[in-house]
Amino acid sequence: MSKYLVTGGCGFIGSHLVNLLLAGGHTVRVLDDLSTGRRETISSGVELVVADVADRAALDTAMRDVDGCFHLAAIASVEQCTRDWAGSHRVNLTGTIAVFEAAAVRRIPVVYTSSAAVFGSASERPLRETTPATPISAYGADKLGCELHARVAGLVYDLPTAGIRPFNVYGPGQDPRSPYSGVISLFCGLVSEGKTLTINGDGQQVRDFIYVDDVARVFAAAMGGVSTDARIYCACTGHPTSVLELAKLISELSGVAPKIAFAEARRGDVRNSVGDPARARSELGFSASVDLRSGLRRTLEWMASERGAPVMAAARR
Ligand SMILES: NC(=O)c1ccc[n+]([C@@H]2O[C@H](COP(=O)([O-])OP(=O)(O)OC[C@H]3O[C@@H](n4cnc5c(N)ncnc54)[C@H](O)[C@@H]3O)[C@@H](O)[C@H]2O)c1
Repeated sequence: MSKYLVTGGCGFIGSHLVNLLLAGGHTVRVLDDLSTGRRETISSGVELVVADVADRAALDTAMRDVDGCFHLAAIASVEQCTRDWAGSHRVNLTGTIAVFEAAAVRRIPVVYTSSAAVFGSASERPLRETTPATPISAYGADKLGCELHARVAGLVYDLPTAGIRPFNVYGPGQDPRSPYSGVISLFCGLVSEGKTLTINGDGQQVRDFIYVDDVARVFAAAMGGVSTDARIYCACTGHPTSVLELAKLISELSGVAPKIAFAEARRGDVRNSVGDPARARSELGFSASVDLRSGLRRTLEWMASERGAPVMAAARR
Protein backbone atom coordinates (compact mmCIF):
# COMPACT_ATOMS: atom_id res chain seq x y z
CA MET A 1 0.00 0.00 0.00
CA SER A 2 1.20 3.51 -0.76
CA LYS A 3 0.98 6.96 0.76
CA TYR A 4 -0.24 9.76 -1.49
CA LEU A 5 -0.49 13.52 -1.39
CA VAL A 6 -3.66 14.87 -3.01
CA THR A 7 -3.67 18.63 -3.63
CA GLY A 8 -7.20 20.01 -3.88
CA GLY A 9 -8.40 16.87 -2.07
CA CYS A 10 -11.24 18.74 -0.34
CA GLY A 11 -12.79 19.70 -3.69
CA PHE A 12 -15.38 17.98 -5.82
CA ILE A 13 -13.17 15.60 -7.85
CA GLY A 14 -10.38 15.49 -5.26
CA SER A 15 -12.66 14.21 -2.48
CA HIS A 16 -13.87 11.33 -4.67
CA LEU A 17 -10.26 10.46 -5.50
CA VAL A 18 -9.35 10.52 -1.79
CA ASN A 19 -12.20 8.09 -1.06
CA LEU A 20 -11.11 5.80 -3.88
CA LEU A 21 -7.52 5.74 -2.61
CA LEU A 22 -8.66 5.06 0.96
CA ALA A 23 -10.91 2.24 -0.26
CA GLY A 24 -7.84 0.76 -1.97
CA GLY A 25 -6.07 0.65 1.41
CA HIS A 26 -3.74 3.61 0.74
CA THR A 27 -2.86 6.40 3.15
CA VAL A 28 -3.70 9.92 2.05
CA ARG A 29 -2.54 13.42 2.96
CA VAL A 30 -4.44 16.37 1.51
CA LEU A 31 -3.12 19.87 0.81
CA ASP A 32 -5.92 22.37 0.24
CA ASP A 33 -6.46 26.05 1.00
CA LEU A 34 -10.22 25.44 1.46
CA SER A 35 -11.06 28.28 -0.94
CA THR A 36 -13.80 26.19 -2.59
CA GLY A 37 -13.18 22.83 -0.93
CA ARG A 38 -14.69 21.82 2.38
CA ARG A 39 -12.94 20.10 5.27
CA GLU A 40 -16.06 17.93 5.90
CA THR A 41 -15.70 16.19 2.52
CA ILE A 42 -12.71 14.18 3.71
CA SER A 43 -12.85 11.57 6.43
CA SER A 44 -11.22 12.09 9.80
CA GLY A 45 -8.43 9.58 9.05
CA VAL A 46 -7.01 11.87 6.38
CA GLU A 47 -4.27 14.31 7.32
CA LEU A 48 -5.13 17.80 6.08
CA VAL A 49 -2.53 20.49 5.43
CA VAL A 50 -4.28 23.83 4.94
CA ALA A 51 -1.96 25.73 2.63
CA ASP A 52 -1.62 27.45 -0.72
CA VAL A 53 -0.44 25.13 -3.48
CA ALA A 54 2.02 27.76 -4.70
CA ASP A 55 3.72 27.77 -1.28
CA ARG A 56 6.93 25.82 -1.90
CA ALA A 57 7.77 25.37 1.79
CA ALA A 58 4.32 23.92 2.50
CA LEU A 59 4.70 21.58 -0.48
CA ASP A 60 8.11 20.42 0.70
CA THR A 61 6.63 19.48 4.07
CA ALA A 62 3.54 17.89 2.55
CA MET A 63 5.62 15.78 0.16
CA ARG A 64 7.85 14.25 2.78
CA ASP A 65 7.39 10.45 2.96
CA VAL A 66 4.83 10.15 0.12
CA ASP A 67 5.06 7.72 -2.80
CA GLY A 68 3.16 9.87 -5.27
CA CYS A 69 1.26 13.10 -5.70
CA PHE A 70 -2.12 13.72 -7.31
CA HIS A 71 -2.32 17.41 -8.12
CA LEU A 72 -5.87 18.75 -8.49
CA ALA A 73 -5.75 22.10 -6.66
CA ALA A 74 -6.77 24.88 -9.01
CA ILE A 75 -9.18 27.70 -9.60
CA ALA A 76 -11.51 25.51 -11.60
CA SER A 77 -13.88 28.22 -12.80
CA VAL A 78 -13.27 29.57 -16.31
CA GLU A 79 -15.23 32.73 -15.40
CA GLN A 80 -13.20 33.40 -12.28
CA CYS A 81 -9.96 32.94 -14.24
CA THR A 82 -11.22 35.47 -16.80
CA ARG A 83 -11.95 37.97 -14.03
CA ASP A 84 -8.66 37.42 -12.21
CA TRP A 85 -6.22 36.61 -15.00
CA ALA A 86 -2.94 37.06 -13.13
CA GLY A 87 -4.28 35.74 -9.81
CA SER A 88 -5.59 32.52 -11.35
CA HIS A 89 -2.35 32.10 -13.31
CA ARG A 90 -0.45 32.13 -10.01
CA VAL A 91 -2.54 29.24 -8.68
CA ASN A 92 -3.12 27.25 -11.87
CA LEU A 93 0.29 27.43 -13.52
CA THR A 94 2.78 28.71 -10.93
CA GLY A 95 1.18 26.35 -8.38
CA THR A 96 1.64 23.41 -10.74
CA ILE A 97 5.29 24.30 -11.40
CA ALA A 98 5.79 24.49 -7.62
CA VAL A 99 4.32 20.97 -7.32
CA PHE A 100 6.62 19.67 -10.07
CA GLU A 101 9.64 21.37 -8.51
CA ALA A 102 8.97 20.00 -5.02
CA ALA A 103 8.27 16.53 -6.45
CA ALA A 104 11.40 16.56 -8.64
CA VAL A 105 13.63 17.04 -5.57
CA ARG A 106 12.40 13.69 -4.22
CA ARG A 107 11.53 12.15 -7.62
CA ILE A 108 7.93 11.68 -6.53
CA PRO A 109 5.69 10.83 -9.51
CA VAL A 110 2.91 13.34 -10.19
CA VAL A 111 -0.49 12.85 -11.80
CA TYR A 112 -1.70 16.39 -12.47
CA THR A 113 -4.92 17.87 -13.77
CA SER A 114 -5.15 19.52 -17.13
CA SER A 115 -8.56 20.03 -18.77
CA ALA A 116 -10.52 19.55 -21.97
CA ALA A 117 -10.47 23.38 -21.98
CA VAL A 118 -7.05 23.15 -23.68
CA PHE A 119 -8.91 22.16 -26.87
CA GLY A 120 -10.70 25.52 -26.94
CA SER A 121 -11.82 26.21 -30.48
CA ALA A 122 -10.58 22.88 -31.95
CA SER A 123 -13.38 21.49 -34.13
CA GLU A 124 -12.12 17.92 -34.59
CA ARG A 125 -14.54 15.27 -33.43
CA PRO A 126 -13.77 13.34 -31.35
CA LEU A 127 -11.09 15.38 -29.59
CA ARG A 128 -7.92 13.38 -29.05
CA GLU A 129 -4.70 13.90 -27.14
CA THR A 130 -3.09 14.53 -30.55
CA THR A 131 -5.61 17.23 -31.58
CA PRO A 132 -3.78 20.59 -31.69
CA ALA A 133 -4.63 22.54 -28.54
CA THR A 134 -6.09 25.99 -29.16
CA PRO A 135 -7.29 27.31 -25.78
CA ILE A 136 -9.64 30.28 -25.80
CA SER A 137 -9.58 31.16 -22.09
CA ALA A 138 -6.99 32.10 -19.48
CA TYR A 139 -7.98 28.89 -17.70
CA GLY A 140 -7.37 26.72 -20.79
CA ALA A 141 -4.10 28.49 -21.57
CA ASP A 142 -2.77 27.83 -18.06
CA LYS A 143 -3.84 24.17 -18.22
CA LEU A 144 -1.93 23.85 -21.50
CA GLY A 145 0.99 25.53 -19.73
CA CYS A 146 0.84 22.76 -17.08
CA GLU A 147 1.21 20.17 -19.85
CA LEU A 148 4.20 22.00 -21.37
CA HIS A 149 5.88 22.24 -17.98
CA ALA A 150 5.22 18.55 -17.34
CA ARG A 151 7.19 17.91 -20.55
CA VAL A 152 10.01 20.08 -19.20
CA ALA A 153 9.77 18.30 -15.83
CA GLY A 154 10.42 14.99 -17.60
CA LEU A 155 13.09 16.20 -20.02
CA VAL A 156 15.08 18.48 -17.72
CA TYR A 157 14.31 17.27 -14.20
CA ASP A 158 13.69 13.56 -14.85
CA LEU A 159 10.29 13.76 -13.16
CA PRO A 160 7.70 11.12 -14.14
CA THR A 161 4.23 12.59 -14.69
CA ALA A 162 0.89 11.91 -16.32
CA GLY A 163 -1.66 14.61 -17.18
CA ILE A 164 -5.42 14.15 -17.13
CA ARG A 165 -7.78 16.18 -19.30
CA PRO A 166 -11.23 15.73 -17.73
CA PHE A 167 -14.20 16.62 -19.95
CA ASN A 168 -17.48 17.67 -18.24
CA VAL A 169 -17.40 16.07 -14.81
CA TYR A 170 -20.59 15.70 -12.78
CA GLY A 171 -21.88 13.80 -9.77
CA PRO A 172 -22.56 13.99 -6.04
CA GLY A 173 -20.59 16.67 -4.22
CA GLN A 174 -20.77 19.31 -6.94
CA ASP A 175 -22.36 22.40 -5.46
CA PRO A 176 -25.49 23.33 -7.44
CA ARG A 177 -25.59 26.75 -5.75
CA SER A 178 -22.22 27.73 -7.12
CA PRO A 179 -22.49 29.90 -10.24
CA TYR A 180 -19.40 28.05 -11.49
CA SER A 181 -20.91 24.60 -11.17
CA GLY A 182 -21.20 22.37 -14.20
CA VAL A 183 -24.42 22.42 -16.23
CA ILE A 184 -25.61 19.09 -14.79
CA SER A 185 -25.46 20.16 -11.20
CA LEU A 186 -27.04 23.53 -12.05
CA PHE A 187 -29.91 21.85 -13.95
CA CYS A 188 -30.46 19.17 -11.29
CA GLY A 189 -30.53 21.88 -8.62
CA LEU A 190 -33.02 24.03 -10.57
CA VAL A 191 -35.30 21.08 -11.38
CA SER A 192 -35.44 19.97 -7.78
CA GLU A 193 -36.41 23.51 -6.77
CA GLY A 194 -39.09 23.69 -9.49
CA LYS A 195 -37.30 26.53 -11.28
CA THR A 196 -36.90 27.30 -14.99
CA LEU A 197 -33.92 25.81 -16.82
CA THR A 198 -32.20 28.44 -18.92
CA ILE A 199 -30.22 27.12 -21.86
CA ASN A 200 -27.66 29.43 -23.41
CA GLY A 201 -27.90 29.21 -27.19
CA ASP A 202 -30.04 26.65 -29.03
CA GLY A 203 -29.22 23.72 -26.75
CA GLN A 204 -27.62 21.76 -29.59
CA GLN A 205 -24.11 22.26 -28.20
CA VAL A 206 -22.70 18.82 -27.46
CA ARG A 207 -20.75 17.74 -24.39
CA ASP A 208 -19.03 14.61 -23.07
CA PHE A 209 -20.34 14.16 -19.52
CA ILE A 210 -18.31 11.85 -17.29
CA TYR A 211 -19.27 10.69 -13.82
CA VAL A 212 -16.95 11.84 -11.05
CA ASP A 213 -16.08 8.35 -9.75
CA ASP A 214 -14.99 7.36 -13.25
CA VAL A 215 -12.70 10.40 -13.37
CA ALA A 216 -11.24 9.41 -9.99
CA ARG A 217 -10.50 5.97 -11.49
CA VAL A 218 -8.59 7.53 -14.41
CA PHE A 219 -6.43 9.45 -11.93
CA ALA A 220 -5.67 6.34 -9.89
CA ALA A 221 -4.89 4.29 -13.03
CA ALA A 222 -2.63 7.05 -14.37
CA MET A 223 -0.31 6.73 -11.37
CA GLY A 224 0.68 3.40 -12.95
CA GLY A 225 1.28 5.15 -16.28
CA VAL A 226 3.59 8.00 -15.22
CA SER A 227 6.74 8.51 -17.27
CA THR A 228 9.26 11.16 -18.17
CA ASP A 229 7.47 11.27 -21.56
CA ALA A 230 4.72 13.23 -19.75
CA ARG A 231 1.82 11.31 -21.29
CA ILE A 232 -1.57 12.99 -21.39
CA TYR A 233 -4.94 11.24 -21.15
CA CYS A 234 -8.45 12.40 -21.97
CA ALA A 235 -10.90 11.49 -19.18
CA CYS A 236 -14.08 11.13 -21.18
CA THR A 237 -16.74 8.67 -22.27
CA GLY A 238 -16.77 9.32 -26.02
CA HIS A 239 -20.58 9.73 -25.88
CA PRO A 240 -22.04 13.01 -27.14
CA THR A 241 -25.04 14.55 -25.35
CA SER A 242 -26.60 17.86 -26.33
CA VAL A 243 -27.55 20.29 -23.58
CA LEU A 244 -31.19 20.05 -24.69
CA GLU A 245 -31.11 16.21 -24.45
CA LEU A 246 -29.57 16.59 -21.01
CA ALA A 247 -32.37 18.91 -19.84
CA LYS A 248 -35.00 16.42 -21.08
CA LEU A 249 -33.29 13.47 -19.39
CA ILE A 250 -33.04 15.28 -16.06
CA SER A 251 -36.70 16.23 -16.24
CA GLU A 252 -37.68 12.63 -17.08
CA LEU A 253 -35.63 11.19 -14.21
CA SER A 254 -36.85 13.72 -11.68
CA GLY A 255 -40.48 13.31 -12.69
CA VAL A 256 -40.76 17.09 -13.02
CA ALA A 257 -41.42 18.88 -16.28
CA PRO A 258 -39.50 22.11 -15.87
CA LYS A 259 -39.97 25.21 -18.00
CA ILE A 260 -37.11 25.52 -20.44
CA ALA A 261 -36.05 29.01 -21.49
CA PHE A 262 -33.44 29.94 -24.07
CA ALA A 263 -30.98 32.79 -23.58
CA GLU A 264 -28.25 34.25 -25.74
CA ALA A 265 -25.33 31.92 -26.42
CA ARG A 266 -22.38 32.54 -24.13
CA ARG A 267 -19.42 34.22 -25.76
CA GLY A 268 -16.77 31.64 -26.69
CA ASP A 269 -19.08 28.72 -25.89
CA VAL A 270 -17.68 25.64 -27.62
CA ARG A 271 -20.09 23.89 -30.03
CA ASN A 272 -18.77 20.33 -29.86
CA SER A 273 -16.74 18.88 -27.05
CA VAL A 274 -16.59 15.09 -27.25
CA GLY A 275 -13.46 13.19 -26.36
CA ASP A 276 -11.86 9.99 -27.58
CA PRO A 277 -11.27 7.57 -24.70
CA ALA A 278 -9.06 5.24 -26.81
CA ARG A 279 -5.69 6.16 -25.29
CA ALA A 280 -6.89 5.86 -21.68
CA ARG A 281 -8.44 2.52 -22.60
CA SER A 282 -5.38 1.05 -24.33
CA GLU A 283 -2.66 2.44 -22.03
CA LEU A 284 -4.41 2.63 -18.65
CA GLY A 285 -7.07 -0.05 -19.08
CA PHE A 286 -9.73 2.54 -18.26
CA SER A 287 -13.23 2.79 -19.58
CA ALA A 288 -16.11 4.75 -18.06
CA SER A 289 -18.45 2.47 -16.15
CA VAL A 290 -21.32 4.81 -15.21
CA ASP A 291 -23.69 5.80 -18.01
CA LEU A 292 -25.33 9.22 -17.99
CA ARG A 293 -28.76 7.96 -16.88
CA SER A 294 -27.35 6.10 -13.85
CA GLY A 295 -25.00 8.96 -13.00
CA LEU A 296 -27.83 11.48 -13.13
CA ARG A 297 -29.98 9.28 -10.90
CA ARG A 298 -27.20 9.13 -8.30
CA THR A 299 -26.72 12.89 -8.55
CA LEU A 300 -30.44 13.60 -8.07
CA GLU A 301 -30.56 11.17 -5.15
CA TRP A 302 -27.60 12.88 -3.52
CA MET A 303 -29.20 16.30 -3.96
CA ALA A 304 -32.44 15.08 -2.43
CA SER A 305 -30.58 13.60 0.54
CA GLU A 306 -28.65 16.87 1.02
CA ARG A 307 -31.93 18.77 1.17
CA GLY A 308 -33.48 16.14 3.43
CA ALA A 309 -36.19 15.69 0.79
CA PRO A 310 -37.58 12.30 -0.20
CA VAL A 311 -35.90 10.91 -3.30
CA MET A 312 -38.12 11.43 -6.31
CA ALA A 313 -39.73 8.23 -7.54
CA ALA A 314 -38.44 8.43 -11.08
CA ALA A 315 -34.89 8.94 -9.89
CA ARG A 316 -35.02 5.70 -7.91
CA ARG A 317 -35.89 3.53 -10.89
N1 LIG B 1 -15.14 19.80 -12.68
C1 LIG B 1 -14.81 19.67 -13.96
O1 LIG B 1 -15.69 19.45 -14.83
C2 LIG B 1 -13.37 19.78 -14.40
C3 LIG B 1 -13.07 19.61 -15.76
C4 LIG B 1 -11.75 19.70 -16.16
C5 LIG B 1 -10.74 19.91 -15.24
N2 LIG B 1 -11.05 20.08 -13.92
C6 LIG B 1 -9.93 20.28 -12.99
O2 LIG B 1 -10.06 19.32 -11.95
C7 LIG B 1 -9.48 19.83 -10.73
C8 LIG B 1 -10.51 19.75 -9.61
O3 LIG B 1 -11.64 20.52 -9.99
P1 LIG B 1 -13.01 20.48 -9.17
O4 LIG B 1 -14.11 20.51 -10.16
O5 LIG B 1 -12.96 19.39 -8.17
O6 LIG B 1 -12.97 21.92 -8.47
P2 LIG B 1 -13.06 22.30 -6.92
O7 LIG B 1 -13.07 23.80 -6.88
O8 LIG B 1 -14.18 21.57 -6.26
O9 LIG B 1 -11.69 21.74 -6.35
C9 LIG B 1 -10.49 22.48 -6.36
C10 LIG B 1 -9.84 22.33 -5.00
O10 LIG B 1 -8.61 23.05 -5.01
C11 LIG B 1 -8.55 23.86 -3.82
N3 LIG B 1 -7.71 25.03 -4.15
C12 LIG B 1 -8.02 26.06 -4.96
N4 LIG B 1 -7.02 26.95 -4.98
C13 LIG B 1 -6.05 26.46 -4.15
C14 LIG B 1 -4.78 26.94 -3.74
N5 LIG B 1 -4.28 28.11 -4.17
N6 LIG B 1 -4.05 26.18 -2.88
C15 LIG B 1 -4.54 25.00 -2.41
N7 LIG B 1 -5.75 24.50 -2.77
C16 LIG B 1 -6.49 25.24 -3.63
C17 LIG B 1 -9.98 24.22 -3.50
O11 LIG B 1 -10.19 24.60 -2.16
C18 LIG B 1 -10.70 22.92 -3.86
O12 LIG B 1 -10.72 22.03 -2.76
C19 LIG B 1 -9.04 21.25 -11.06
O13 LIG B 1 -7.67 21.23 -11.39
C20 LIG B 1 -9.87 21.61 -12.27
O14 LIG B 1 -9.26 22.62 -13.04
C21 LIG B 1 -12.34 20.02 -13.48
